[in-house]
Amino acid sequence: MSEQKYDYGMIGLGTMGRNLVFNMADHGFSVSGFDQDTRQVDNLEKERGDRKVHGTRSPQEFVDSLKQPRVIMLLVPAGKIVDAVVNELKPLLSPEDLIMDCGNSHYTDTDIRTAALAKDNMHFMGVGVSGGESGARFGPSIMPGGNKSAYDRVAPMLEAVSAKVNNTEPCVAYLGTGSAGHYVKMVHNGIEYGLMQLISETYQLLKETGGLNNDELHEVFKTWNEGRLQSYLISITADIFNQNDELTNNRLIDMVLDSAGQKGTGAWTSEDAMALQIPIPVIDAAVTARNLSGLKEVRVVAQQKLKGPEGVSKTDKKELIALLEQALYFATITIYSQGMALLQRASVEYKYGLNLSEVAKIWRGGCIIRATLLEQISAAYTQQPGIANLMLSDAIAAELAGSQTGIRKIAGLAAEAGVPMPATMTALAYYDTYRHAWLPANLLQAQRDYFGAHTYKRNDREGVFHSHWNQKA
Ligand code: 6PG
Repeated sequence: MSEQKYDYGMIGLGTMGRNLVFNMADHGFSVSGFDQDTRQVDNLEKERGDRKVHGTRSPQEFVDSLKQPRVIMLLVPAGKIVDAVVNELKPLLSPEDLIMDCGNSHYTDTDIRTAALAKDNMHFMGVGVSGGESGARFGPSIMPGGNKSAYDRVAPMLEAVSAKVNNTEPCVAYLGTGSAGHYVKMVHNGIEYGLMQLISETYQLLKETGGLNNDELHEVFKTWNEGRLQSYLISITADIFNQNDELTNNRLIDMVLDSAGQKGTGAWTSEDAMALQIPIPVIDAAVTARNLSGLKEVRVVAQQKLKGPEGVSKTDKKELIALLEQALYFATITIYSQGMALLQRASVEYKYGLNLSEVAKIWRGGCIIRATLLEQISAAYTQQPGIANLMLSDAIAAELAGSQTGIRKIAGLAAEAGVPMPATMTALAYYDTYRHAWLPANLLQAQRDYFGAHTYKRNDREGVFHSHWNQKA
């Protein structure tokens, strides 16, 4: 057994875990690691160089190798494995020890685990980590929640390893109590689903209606990435169109099956938004679109059976690109607005105490949804913290007004051409619904009262009313 005691422990030494360990060590922290799969421990030891990194081969050896009170980070798959690891560790730990779950756990599981460990005076924190493998290695965005004094113990390390905006501003902040960190990460992923779907729909219209080839698509996204759409997802999209396939003479993108999987965080976002009755329809549309992408076999049959429009007129390429830039920008704003609205409501419901300006700030670097726009979003919530929806901030409302022509024309073009743009069209519908003081829900009320005597409210006096609707006037 090694005599030296290490600052931090890491359980789960797959690529993400290992990369985070090396990131921590590069910032001066000593780390001891453990993985059930001893090959991963071997890999850690092979790749560690002269860093203060140590591999252990049993939970007891791992726990004994750590300074007390211990700080143990988990980077293991969400779900039952987290419980299995915690249950194995718990008898070996002492009061004040802290476990940080850095995976994409469901926030309700985090609440249960936090309460269970608190009974033995141990701490559990749900910590969202975004940025994939390279983020873990060179600076992720980190979304921690839980006990504030436990956070204070690890804040210097988290700040050191996180991504930095403008070279100095760390992409980490204490977000709030309980499962706040995992909740914010879940919504981050919901936004991620929405943005990916919008970009993909834009690609389909450019390809099918505009007739753009991969070189042209690369150029379009590259150019967009130099403007207000600048973001990680737009930049990797530009790269993707440029990549050649090693197995054929084609571009790799054309050899990838058009059916995408999912681990579930997008659906969790939609489920919780439905439970809280907060509309996030663009994210819902994105989750649904992913599910539809999974129906590949039946779509192949349906293409023969279901008729689309005939004789679709061609649009000028340049004009199409310019309109799509506006449409994508507009729809992107609505996605962030919906994610933020959900966080605002969840913060009240679950008593997180979130600061939305701060959330937007730590998303500016390191994470998958990082974008120049987040600077403006953060500023909007600093200026008007209690605002009901991001779209109502003066600056953001002006951005939407300035790009609405594009999305209206694109929705029309897509409908006319029969090209599916569910998330884009939903973004426009959300905006138009939101900005209508009057909606036809009077008719909904009347229908409910008609068929089920559910009663209705009037717009001219207080009270609850019921009418016999089937009587002739
Ligand atoms: C991140 C990503 C990461 C993961 C996604 C993939 O922030 O680094 O969101 O957490 O790659 O969860 O999700 P799906 O498999 O559901 O697309």
